[in-house]
Amino acid sequence: MRIGVIGTGRIGTIHANTLSRHREVGSLILTDADPARAQELAHRLGETAAPGVDEIYTWGVDAVVITTATSAHAELIGRAARSGLPVFCEKPIALDLPGTLHALAEVEAAGTVLQMGFQRRFDAGYTGAREAVRSGRLGRLHTVRALTSDQAPPSAARLALSGGLYRDTLIHDFDILRWVTGHEVVDVYAAGSDTGPAMFREAGDVDTGAALLTLDDGTLATVTATRLNGAGYDVRMELAGELDQIVVGLDDRTPIASTEPTGPPAADKPWTGFLERFGPAYEAELAAFVEVVRGERANPCDGREALQALRIAEACEVSRRERRPVRLGEIAGGAGAAVM
Ligand SMILES: NC(=O)c1ccc[n+]([C@@H]2O[C@H](COP(=O)([O-])OP(=O)(O)OC[C@H]3O[C@@H](n4cnc5c(N)ncnc54)[C@H](O)[C@@H]3O)[C@@H](O)[C@H]2O)c1
Repeated sequence: MRIGVIGTGRIGTIHANTLSRHREVGSLILTDADPARAQELAHRLGETAAPGVDEIYTWGVDAVVITTATSAHAELIGRAARSGLPVFCEKPIALDLPGTLHALAEVEAAGTVLQMGFQRRFDAGYTGAREAVRSGRLGRLHTVRALTSDQAPPSAARLALSGGLYRDTLIHDFDILRWVTGHEVVDVYAAGSDTGPAMFREAGDVDTGAALLTLDDGTLATVTATRLNGAGYDVRMELAGELDQIVVGLDDRTPIASTEPTGPPAADKPWTGFLERFGPAYEAELAAFVEVVRGERANPCDGREALQALRIAEACEVSRRERRPVRLGEIAGGAGAAVM
């Protein structure tokens, strides 16, 4: 199998590395808006660099992996779909709902595969949480507390392309909340704080955000995120039911210190970022994609799933800007809605 990888920045480098080592992947064609970046990576991996996206199609591939900045995803998804090729794309599909719906329409019209990069679905902790919830072991679930705390903020240039804290970061929590619980979010109330570095205010973004989400079975969930967690990279989810409670992301690298005399010691080597924390999950999601391309398994995370996560992010943006609760029904693209 030959795979075209478009975008060889941080995550593109990780994914190209993984695919290059995969036994079912014969070769890769790498390209980037900065051709020198693609060439350097291709040289390092013993793969081929292409001068542009056109060559991915003229040279011929069996599948496409899109790891560019988010603003380019929708157009590249559409092009791959029109070429009849299966696509793996990093989250989100687009920075807005019209772009997302348009890309989905192209995929659905072509009848091709779009697998989205929500790697937490392949993380052992979240998989265990889903099994615990679905088995009934926790009893009736009443509370979920999820958080994503980055250790260091992105550069101002990256921030400007990110779409903001809800669409860029918390979208992972929104997706995994739906996946673990099996329930849809029906309303949100979100707030954000921009009292940290000035670049967040200048971008109209927030450095820290929180949201209260109500699920369709009445379960309450709180999600928080920050770009400024000096202690380390912290991704957790606590799920509490009438019978038991569990936590994802609590281990000897969790960057939090107990103040209790008998509490656990602080982590010697706290997690520093998503690349190390989710390394195995990134590999597993791409192994799944190869199986999807080979027709050996169903798509584990299609574009409709990404649409729902983006709708929750959009609702949070409206809520925090307008300082009011927002029902998901107010946001375009709901269940049964036609894509356009
Ligand atoms: N799943 C995750 O945990 C995760 C983590 C980080 C990033 N991401 C997503 O991955 C994507 C890339 O993020 P990153 O951190 O690697 O960014 P990055 O800035 O490190 O890399 C992006 C690369 O895309 C290239 N590029 C931009 N537009 C292009 C185009 N039209 N054609 C070809 N190349 C183009 C840039 O030159 C750059 O090399 C984003 O959508 C982001 O949301 C996901």
